[in-house]
Amino acid sequence: MLKLTTQKKDISDAPKKYVRLVVTEEPATAHRFVETADGSLAYHMGVGKYKEMTARKFRIFVRSIVQTAKAHEVEYLALQLSLSPFPQLNEHDEDWVTSTIAENLLLADYTFTTYKSDKKPKRPQLKEILICGDLSTKAASGLRRGQIVAAGANTTRNIANSSAQDITPRGLAAAAKKAMQGTAATVQVLGEAELKKLGANLLLAVGQGTREPSQMIVISYWGAGKPSKKATGATQPIVLIGKGITYDTGGLNVKPSGHMHDMHMDMSGGAAVIGALQNVATLKLKKNVIGIIPAAENAVSAEAMRAGDIFTAMNGKTVEVLHTDAEGRMALADALTYSERFNPRYILDVATLTGASLVALGQHASAIMTTDEKLQTDLQILGEKSGDYVWPLPLWEEYQKPLKSTRADLANIATNFSRFGGTIEGGAFLQNFAPKDVSWAHIDMAPRMESIPSDKLAKGATGEPVRLLTAFVELY
Ligand code: BES
Ligand code: MN
Ligand code: ZN
Repeated sequence: MLKLTTQKKDISDAPKKYVRLVVTEEPATAHRFVETADGSLAYHMGVGKYKEMTARKFRIFVRSIVQTAKAHEVEYLALQLSLSPFPQLNEHDEDWVTSTIAENLLLADYTFTTYKSDKKPKRPQLKEILICGDLSTKAASGLRRGQIVAAGANTTRNIANSSAQDITPRGLAAAAKKAMQGTAATVQVLGEAELKKLGANLLLAVGQGTREPSQMIVISYWGAGKPSKKATGATQPIVLIGKGITYDTGGLNVKPSGHMHDMHMDMSGGAAVIGALQNVATLKLKKNVIGIIPAAENAVSAEAMRAGDIFTAMNGKTVEVLHTDAEGRMALADALTYSERFNPRYILDVATLTGASLVALGQHASAIMTTDEKLQTDLQILGEKSGDYVWPLPLWEEYQKPLKSTRADLANIATNFSRFGGTIEGGAFLQNFAPKDVSWAHIDMAPRMESIPSDKLAKGATGEPVRLLTAFVELY
């Protein structure tokens, strides 16, 4: 595991065992080792013209430091933190710069070895990065924040990368408890008997085809003090809801081969909520935050829900299952209803909800849907600031009509089976369950479920949008 350390003295005073990173304005392809007169080793990395360095490019550059160090088997690396030579980054605070550096060094260092029989690395590992220079209090706190935020995102990646044999609904609950250990956040788990009493029949329907009991995982963090039930204002909690489908076969509308094997990651939204709450609690933010994860396995069996079955949701609406693979919205619907009891100030839900979101956006951003324009703008700004990019789609009333079922109140997909606007259709379905008069945004994170090579991250889970959720709680 990579350790970040600091020294007040400049990099010229770093002990000789550290390779000294030197950033140059040469093209980004220009990388070389240079021996210096005092016998220390320097590594020159071109980043291109300083004035062209954007926040987006900066994150990738920071990650490439780790990738490059690993490729060259550098064990100890030193870098100098002085005023940023990149003019475009100056619009950000200095703690943003230090947090971004720490976050991305540690995100880039992450590897997932849980299921490797030989966990011992075959080559020398990058052990330590020494950050040199006299940091202001603010810069130092950014460095601390960045390490915490990366740890939360890496917790999320560990959970999302784990197999469905281990991360069952109960396994996910155990992972939530483990992540909150040593913090002031508490975890409560509702089992099937309690869910039945609550009338969470949509969540239970999704999980009825498996022996693994469905769970509703509730994480509570009262950093601003527990408010009275009817309190209004800043002490009303922010509710974060995460889809916790621990495996999605598609149900009786079974997924075709090639589209199923990575569905152990269909709890990535839930894993992100766990990572975000770990961050909020570790940073001891003075905010009230509730995480809700409806967890179930969408399996194929004689007991599985059928297309054509009708269930009554927790909010009393009846839902016809037209497609058993549109299960995420069913699980989330009951979680949205359940959230109302917390008297929330804001609700964000995060879900790997639709393949259509990848068609719309590619794999560079999650889709967001909300009717609160300010919330939409703020999420976009925080996306740019954190690196968890989001882009909006509309939730106009027109999208409701195709969801009106002939036999029930609602259908879980468009009744004409049209695949057009599939991502909005998911958001429009959820809109029927979001508590009235509460600002709510739906984040379809399917595009960011798995990393792509240009991310310069390990293959598998990205840990998104943990940075965005953390930044949201900090700001709101
Ligand atoms: N978990 C999937 C969506 C998904 C697909 C996430 C690929 C990540 C990568 C979701 O439950 C699903 O199956 N959605 C269906 C909806 C359809 C039946 C309306 C889809 O996208 O095909
Ligand atoms: Mn599905
Ligand atoms: Zn799913």
